[in-house]
Amino acid sequence: PLQPTSLFTFTEEENMLRESVQKFAQDMVVPRVREMDEAEKMDPAIIKGLFDQGFMAVETAADLGGAECSFTSAIIVIEELAKIDASVSVLCDVHNTLVNTLVRKHASEEMKKKYLPILSTEKLGSFALSEPASGSDAFALQTRAEKKDDHYLLNGSKMWITNAGEAEIFLVFANLDPSKGYKGITCFLVEKEMGVQIAKKEQKLGIRASSTCTLNFDDVKVPLANLLGKEGEGYKYAIEILNEGRIGIAAQMVGLAQGAFEKSIGATYQRKQFGKPVGEFQGMQFQFAEIHTMIESARLLTYNAARLKEEGKPFTKEAAMAKWWSSEVAQKASGSAIEWAGGLGFTREIGIEKYWRDSKIGAIYEGTSNIQRLTIAKFLQKQYGQ
Ligand code: CAA
Ligand code: FAD
Repeated sequence: PLQPTSLFTFTEEENMLRESVQKFAQDMVVPRVREMDEAEKMDPAIIKGLFDQGFMAVETAADLGGAECSFTSAIIVIEELAKIDASVSVLCDVHNTLVNTLVRKHASEEMKKKYLPILSTEKLGSFALSEPASGSDAFALQTRAEKKDDHYLLNGSKMWITNAGEAEIFLVFANLDPSKGYKGITCFLVEKEMGVQIAKKEQKLGIRASSTCTLNFDDVKVPLANLLGKEGEGYKYAIEILNEGRIGIAAQMVGLAQGAFEKSIGATYQRKQFGKPVGEFQGMQFQFAEIHTMIESARLLTYNAARLKEEGKPFTKEAAMAKWWSSEVAQKASGSAIEWAGGLGFTREIGIEKYWRDSKIGAIYEGTSNIQRLTIAKFLQKQYGQ
């Protein structure tokens, strides 16, 4: 077997976690992938399994029901799940790196005690920032919050919300004081039963088993205690958490690229044309070498960003680079994997085409590739533009 080429090291705990996610993915996800893609629906048994295995609260403290592992561990879970299915991977990613982390970082002690245990063991979360008229320009959001005597009143609509079909807890960004521009944006923890209406479910090109829905808020009463953090600081929480979350999406795309590569390469050494295995033609071998190198470079960028974040060092530019590049690599690797399998690769039968459909989302959510380029470019201008 090929030896890992990187100096990058993982702890024993991280290696054990990787093995247990691989086992879960083989046992629970592999048998369900095609059916879930065709039905455009996540099997609830997978969500329960993810909770039971402790993959849904990777960083949360043990006394609050979590696994109390490193940020890199959360990244490992996302990468390993994406090797098999990007939909399962993003479900876990949104729950861990966006929802749990925001609650851990900014909720009051009371709120943490109330919500982190259920977010660790049974209730799925969603992160609701985007709206029909504000995607990249996220801070132009129109959802409004009004402060009343003993509650906030939420009105507006969110669009594209991952996990919304199954979630029971929503982190919702709304503007409490539009006169302050984006400095009025405030984050609320809203339970579904407070009145969140789950509206249109999108029919998508890829990650079809992951639910993506519109949410409507029509005079939804949210208790004052469910303010997350401080009024007017929601915009900071949103972008700070997205900086971290982008490392998660980078990991999803690295896993997806590796999964597609591994699903296709082996068969090229079996399939014969012109009297020999097609994988032995130099034209094919050069492509294997290029894609393998591209995946390794994306993986190194991703884990580098993860460790920087973990060590409390600046990581925003590195996260943007990792997300942008991994998304490019995932599209290229999964496209090549289809071609290596010839006509079979184009059929739904062997499941390589699904990786390619799923890969497209990496360049769109948690900030499009242009938004990542803008983020990187801002740092370059600061460094060289004096
Ligand atoms: N890190 C930290 N702070 C940042 C930042 C970053 N990357 N980018 C901007 N900011 C801060 C600025 O410092 C500034 O704050 P202060 O006023 O306190 O100094 C504030 O944000 C506004 O800055 P700008 O005017 O430069 O920013 P903007 O309004 O032009 O755009 C942005 C800011 C909305 C964050 C934009 O850059 C962006 O990232 N858009 C993409 C939105 C996004 O990622 N949405 C994802 C939704 S969730 C999702 O997609 C989940 C999923 O699918 C699975
Ligand atoms: P737009 O912002 O309208 O962008 C259109 C095009 O213009 C893009 O190519 C973009 O790169 C480009 N562009 C925009 N501004 C600039 C600029 N300044 N410079 C150069 N180019 C620019 N959101 C959530 O809040 N929570 C979720 O859970 C969530 N899940 C999602 C799941 C899926 C499957 C999808 C498709 C989206 C999800 N989103 C979610 C929303 C996602 O974050 C947005 O779709 C994304 O940020 C882009 O916004 P937009 O779709 O409005 O595109």
